[in-house]
Amino acid sequence: MKYTFLSGLLLLSVSHLSASTPTDNWQRADLLLQQMTLEEKIGQMNQISNKSKLTGPVSERGFKSLVELVENGMAGSLLNVTDLQSIRTYQEAALRSRLGIPLIFGLDVIHGMRTISPIPLGEAASFDLEAIERSARWAATETAASGIHWTFAPMVDISTDARWGRVMEGAGEDPYYGAQVARARIRGFQGDDLSAPNTIMACCKHFAGYGAATSGKDYNSVDMSRGHFYNYYMPPYKAAAEAGVATFMNAFNDFDGIPCTGNTFLLQELLRGRWHYQGFVVSDWNSVEEMVPHGYAANRKEAAKAAANAGCDMEMCSLCYFDHLKELVESGEIPEQKIDEAVRRILYAKFELGLFDDPMRYCDTNRLRQTVLSSQIRAAARDMAKRSIVLLKNDNQTLPLSPKIKHIALIGPLCDSQLDMRGGWAAEGVVDSIVTLRRALTDRGYTIHYAEGYNAETGLESNTAQALQAACQSDAVIVAVGERARDSGEARSRGELNLPSGQQELVKKLVSTGKPVVVLVMGGRPLIFNDIKNHAPAILFTWWLGTEAGNALCDVLFGDYNPGAKLPMTFPAHMGQIPIYYYYKSTGRPADPNKPHTTRFIDIDNAPAYPFGYGLSYTTFTFSTPRLEKTMIAPGEKTCLRVTVTNTGKRSGEEVVQLYVRDRFASLTRPVKELRGFQKIMLSPGESRTVEFPIDQEQLGFYTNEGNFIVEPGDFDIMVGNSSDQLQTVSLTVSK
Ligand code: NOJ
Repeated sequence: MKYTFLSGLLLLSVSHLSASTPTDNWQRADLLLQQMTLEEKIGQMNQISNKSKLTGPVSERGFKSLVELVENGMAGSLLNVTDLQSIRTYQEAALRSRLGIPLIFGLDVIHGMRTISPIPLGEAASFDLEAIERSARWAATETAASGIHWTFAPMVDISTDARWGRVMEGAGEDPYYGAQVARARIRGFQGDDLSAPNTIMACCKHFAGYGAATSGKDYNSVDMSRGHFYNYYMPPYKAAAEAGVATFMNAFNDFDGIPCTGNTFLLQELLRGRWHYQGFVVSDWNSVEEMVPHGYAANRKEAAKAAANAGCDMEMCSLCYFDHLKELVESGEIPEQKIDEAVRRILYAKFELGLFDDPMRYCDTNRLRQTVLSSQIRAAARDMAKRSIVLLKNDNQTLPLSPKIKHIALIGPLCDSQLDMRGGWAAEGVVDSIVTLRRALTDRGYTIHYAEGYNAETGLESNTAQALQAACQSDAVIVAVGERARDSGEARSRGELNLPSGQQELVKKLVSTGKPVVVLVMGGRPLIFNDIKNHAPAILFTWWLGTEAGNALCDVLFGDYNPGAKLPMTFPAHMGQIPIYYYYKSTGRPADPNKPHTTRFIDIDNAPAYPFGYGLSYTTFTFSTPRLEKTMIAPGEKTCLRVTVTNTGKRSGEEVVQLYVRDRFASLTRPVKELRGFQKIMLSPGESRTVEFPIDQEQLGFYTNEGNFIVEPGDFDIMVGNSSDQLQTVSLTVSK
């Protein structure tokens, strides 16, 4: 059975084969393409979901079942098939098709498959690219063992708007950092060999600009200048293409008034043209058909035509290709060459995955059993989780808690909710395996005085007296507040990010007991909690940490691990500040609180609650005066900035040393600062290290409105520090 395709190929294509069987996967794809009918080619361009309306579209199109459709070669990929037995059944059906072309199985593996790591925005807070890469590799290992070849991740969309629920899936607001994280995640998922047992195909999504949805409302229109796009949104997509990501996904939104799925500027000019991208492009869910309600295509046939002609190679779900591509090719409205190009790319991916050599290589039940939730994977998830926790406040060294304490008041339903701690969009994450904070503390032998304190649904205080009594009986109070895990993610835009007053009032009352109070703020996005910020002595922002959440929290709470994470998004102090980000421009009237006619509000400050790059440690660091190797360089010349960082506290700890640049005068206005380098270093107490940042074109340049990356002569501020608002500046001149 499993060699159907190979024997078929030998019979059918003997005249095309050179003396030896081709080893190059493009040649193998070409040979196969020559054997295919138009229907078979179009079949490869259809991706069908196992979920939602499964029987409808399939039976309406004359097939008794999805299996029968696959047997007829009418699908190139399935998504959302998650059990090994079904994967095997569908794959066998594909092998029974005339040419026996195997299917690719895809799934949204966003932060782990069955063992769950922190939500991607949380992982990004680690500023630890190696850890992020490792985490993606573990996700790939479990995913590949589960029979799946392709994740629809990473989402690399930049967003400066915390109202947008999908910020939880990305790496935050910064284009430079976003590009680094995109590369790390792609390396982690794909490795060097897509056919290896611990790698899968990645998908860079959503191309392009999806994170700029107007007013943070999911699926909303996007409108921005080309210059803005090139400088602040494009870098992670470009980095993904350069990193060899196997696939790209279209975005739902329009871009310059044209839906991304049919957008030739994005798909042809940028992706295939300037970036020479070779992989294949998949639409987003129904996004081909959705060009009709966008008001761009008059009907599904026109939508299929626009998408295929623009270069969307595979259609996810809406079946416009299935229904119309054949007639569009026969009428000459789509050149068959377009279809050939798309199918060639899809076949190439299948060869790269090793599916033709052994279509069942991903279907090994023993491997699945040994891999899923193994102690190694759980240890890695715990490691990633502790690296993701951000220490926002720590007055009087409230943290770490002494391990000698015995009685802990544990307040808030989020402390004990497996579903919330797992985080949103968690693939096949096993809920029973999630270690909550309550469970982890109990396992460590603490006596827990638990009280709900507020209602998880309404956010209103509930039985405050019980919570206060628990506090009075205990040596320390840990209180978890925040949003629910289901409140961030796709279609989870929010118009209110202030934590409910019930949660904030409760914290104030707990603080007034005089006991040490640690607040854990949980959420999938920046949230606003000014009362807690002002009153609580210690605050950790914990995102959603996944399977090992409770253990990782204990590691940080009791000081077994010294937190070193930093915020990858600015935390607003007021809703009215959103969108808020650190790389704003000076404007002609820079903000001045004493001058009304400047860029400011009359009723709220401009300052965020917590800036990008902010995060504390249990130790302290000092930075020496930074020095530039040369303060004047010729165009194209390099220099280097050096700064010595010293751990001045009593614990070993990590610091993220951040480099920012400002081009003081340019032919296009430039932001007041832009991250252009960072290094995470570990220092023992008293230890010093000199950190070096090379400064060249990459640090000093920007994109013109035409998309050319240039460095202009003139004066630059080079800034270094441990947060975007704590920087020392030196001047650099690039001579003419
Ligand atoms: C829609 C989402 O926008 C996309 O990110 C996801 O991969 C697909 N649905 C498939 O679930």
